[in-house]
Order: sequence, then structure tokens, then C-alpha cells
Amino acid sequence: MKLLSTTLERVKPSPTIAVTNKAAELKAAGRDIIGLGAGEPDFDTPQHIKDAAVVAIALGKTKYTAVDGIPELKQAICAKFKRDNGLDYVPAQVSVSSGGKQVLYNALMATLNEGDEVVIPAPYWVSYPDMVLLAGGTPVVAEASLQTGFKLTADQLEAAITPRTKWFIFNSPSNPTGAGYSRDELKALTDVLMRHPHVWVMTDDMYEHLAYDGFEFCTPAEVEPRLYDRTLTVNGVSKAYAMTGWRIGYAAGPQELIGAMRKVQSQSTSNPCSISQWAAVEALNGPHEFIAENNAAFVRRRNLVVEMLNAAEGISCPTPEGAFYVYPSIAGLIGKTSPAGVEIVDDEAFATALLEETGVAVVFGAAFGLSPNFRVSYATSDEALKEACTRIQGFCAALT
Ligand SMILES: Cc1ncc(COP(=O)(O)O)c(C=O)c1O
Repeated sequence: MKLLSTTLERVKPSPTIAVTNKAAELKAAGRDIIGLGAGEPDFDTPQHIKDAAVVAIALGKTKYTAVDGIPELKQAICAKFKRDNGLDYVPAQVSVSSGGKQVLYNALMATLNEGDEVVIPAPYWVSYPDMVLLAGGTPVVAEASLQTGFKLTADQLEAAITPRTKWFIFNSPSNPTGAGYSRDELKALTDVLMRHPHVWVMTDDMYEHLAYDGFEFCTPAEVEPRLYDRTLTVNGVSKAYAMTGWRIGYAAGPQELIGAMRKVQSQSTSNPCSISQWAAVEALNGPHEFIAENNAAFVRRRNLVVEMLNAAEGISCPTPEGAFYVYPSIAGLIGKTSPAGVEIVDDEAFATALLEETGVAVVFGAAFGLSPNFRVSYATSDEALKEACTRIQGFCAALT
């Protein structure tokens, strides 16, 4: 009998984590590596949030908690949804997990049956299709194009929906493109969803606060209140509060769904870390001024990267509305050959040659379902970004 399950055989490990590991390996071996692969802010967690965690430890908040979150955090989450999104939820509609990733996983595990389809716009966050597969469902990828700024159109969504569709996963601002849907663009999608009452909406709002140039964030249940009863609104403290290591994500939605997610969590991990939950209470209820300060740095870095990449031969890089990623096209480089003799047959070959020959680690576009592109995370220092982009320019210019 073989050891591994057939379900797991359909799933691949996260390519973004693989790139980060490969870059770390090369660095440990003494190579001069600049990692632009990791999806986390380089800022430290704000001091007042760290202090709240220290207080929680001192007060002995170190025991098991309610499976899907302490009441104080659920209260803070309800207040956040009201304050930021105009959405009314009560604590019984809220679930807290070990990161946004577990929230999404619980929801898919709790709802998918064999053959259920999940519509995922591409480029997508790497984990969506594999989580769907792990939960026994079928990912249906709907490709957005560079021409629409990597945003799915109403027609594309309409074409992807079938009678088997259970979920539509929506992510704005997006990982990997940084694309943010305006209210009108999102309304066009929610209008389609209103015509298909069997489709539920899983909106991943992890990058809500990382929006630039006056971009106004919006979320499906706010844009179309009639979707409230079939929407799971997912968010978390990882990105905006620079708390990736604390592992706190949350969601709000219909009680039946939240109860089912609690059941999955109760038989797997139980409660998220008690101390991190108290830190998250402070994150949501405490001062938010640092977000604007961090965003000023992100805008400066985004502009630097977009400008320098567009100056590289064969690369075309749109300016995104949010998150901390850009997703340039390398259509102009396909078929060329690197100085070490590698033919750039696709974006994976490009990313591999770039890492081997210049020490710059990026993630190839095929991992996100749209090629030929690559993802740059600009959540690192201006100096590192300048040096990395200079190396990318040199690499592109040296292709023949
Ligand atoms: C779009 C998106 N959703 C969810 C997550 C998961 O966040 P967390 O670290 O809270 O699990 C990430 C993290 O990279 C992400 O980019």
C-alpha cells in the first residue's frame, strides 16, 4: 500500500516558499542574494502591539482559549468590519484562525464536496487552487489579462460559472499583481453573482489597508449588500500590521458556515495562539497611524521598481493600486538566451537563470497561473530594490 494519499498527490508545495528557501540556501552557501520572493513586510511589528503580547504573557493568558477566538478579539473584529467596511456582524458570525491561510482552508474544507467547482481569477495567490484540491474540489481558473490590469471582467466571470460552482474567490488588492478593483469594477462582478444565487463569495481582503494613490478599497458584501448572506469576508493582521509570524487571520459570514469552520478547527489545530490573539486585539483597537507611514514607504518603493523595470529591455510593468507586489511581463524576452547559455523558453527559465546568474530571487508567473510574467515583492529596503533592479536591467540587456 502506498504511503501518501491520492488527494495529496494532486497538490504541489507552495512555489513562493520554495523560492524563499532556495534563495536562503544560496545565501547560506555564500552567494550574494537579493530575495524579492517573500510575501511579507520588512517592517517590524509596532511596539504597542508587542507590548500587548508581553502584558498577556504576564497576566497568564497562556492557556487554551475558545476554539475560534476570544470574545475580546471577536468584538474587535466586529468593530473593525463596521468601522472600515460598514458591515454589521455579531461575534457568533466571526471565526479566528492561525493566519488568513487557515481561515480559507477551514472554509473550503467545511464546504466542498467531490466535483464542487471554485472559480479562481488568475493571476491568483498560489495557495487557492491547491487548497481547493486538498479539500476535494475542482479549481476553475478564469484568466484575467494584462489589458484589464489583471482584473477579471464580468463576461469572464459569467463564462466560468457552472451549476457546480460553489465559491468565487475574490482578492483585491491582489497577490501577485497588486491590482485593486474599483467600486464599479467590483459592482460589475457582483451583478453577475446576483444572477447566480447558488454561488458563494469568498473575499480575501488581506491587503485592504495597503492601497495607494487614493485608491478606495471596497469589499463585495459592502458593494452589493444582497450578497451578505452568501459571503465570507476574510481578513487578517499579517500584512497591514506587519504580524506575519503571529499567525492571526479572521473571517465573518453566515453563522452556519462559521460553525462548520469552527468544527474543522476544533478537530485540527484548536485555538490560534492565545498571546497572538491579545496582540491582535491591540492591533485592531489601537492606533493606526503607522499604516500610513508604512504605505508612504511602499509607494516610494513601488514607483522605484516600476520605473526601473520598465527601463529594462523586454520588460513591461504596470503600476498597481495596492499590496506590495508588481507583476511585470517578460513577453519581450521569450526565446532569448542568457549569458550562461540558458534559453528563456518561459518565465520559470527566466526566474531560474536570473537567480543563478545575478542572485536576484523572484517568483515565476506560471506559479500564479498567468505567463510570461514574474512577481516582485517590493517589501524590502530601497537599496536592495535599486540593486536588484539594476541587476535585472543588466541581465535583460545581456540577453541575446
Ligand atoms: C492573498 C493572500 N491571502 C492570504 C494570505 C495568508 O495570510 P496569513 O499569513 O495571515 O496566513 C496571504 C499571504 O501571503 C496572501 O497573500
